Amino acid sequence: HLVCPMNTSPLVDPSKPSHEIWEEFSQSFTPAVREVVDFARQIPGFQELSQHDQVSLLKAGTFEVLMVRFASLFDVKERTVTFLSGRRYSVEVLRSMGAGELLTSMFDFSEKLMALQLSPEETSLFTAVVLVSADRTGIEDVSSVEALQENLIRALRNLIMRNHSNESAIFTKLLLKLPDLRSLNNMHSEELLAFKVHP
Ligand code: HEM
Repeated sequence: HLVCPMNTSPLVDPSKPSHEIWEEFSQSFTPAVREVVDFARQIPGFQELSQHDQVSLLKAGTFEVLMVRFASLFDVKERTVTFLSGRRYSVEVLRSMGAGELLTSMFDFSEKLMALQLSPEETSLFTAVVLVSADRTGIEDVSSVEALQENLIRALRNLIMRNHSNESAIFTKLLLKLPDLRSLNNMHSEELLAFKVHP
């Protein structure tokens, strides 16, 4: 099994060599990863960072950006997960295939994020904040990344204030999603590593 919704299906053909399984899986998730790279390029100021720092933020933050984008794949009411192929699987089926605590944590995160009912513009700006807030280890020019992050956070606050007058709570809740995303990212990296070691 490969219980990641970025795959087309959690089922894998047991007779297939593991490099082919990985090859098909990467064909499934690569377009989504490319979109994150294209999105990053459109963040005002991102391309002014050094190439090295752009790559570091993308490496550390792509999962978190995708998690926000694909939160709607987790249907809390129906207790299903839609894979990138469009096929839906129940939580029970995914559990029987080995999904665990991380799946539960992703449902919790998605439920809370969807409850905020962000507009596409708000989601996009929040996603930009997520990307420039990625793990800073190895960043060469931390102060430039911080300055960019401050601008984006200010823009996000202005947008939220404009759209939901008196709703500064939404802005606070969004910023509190950043540590949740970091923790999902860490848990997910462990699953990914474990899968690479024992496919
Ligand atoms: C698990 C890869 C992005 C959700 C996994 C596993 C791998 C993987 C290898 C382990 C599969 C197993 O042991 O059966 C990747 C790669 C990604 C990516 C390469 C980058 C494109 C995402 C995103 C989400 C996600 C964006 C959410 C929207 C999950 C879930 C699991 C999982 C729910 C199973 C968790 C559990 O076992 O409890 N992923 N993933 N992944 N991934 Fe991903």
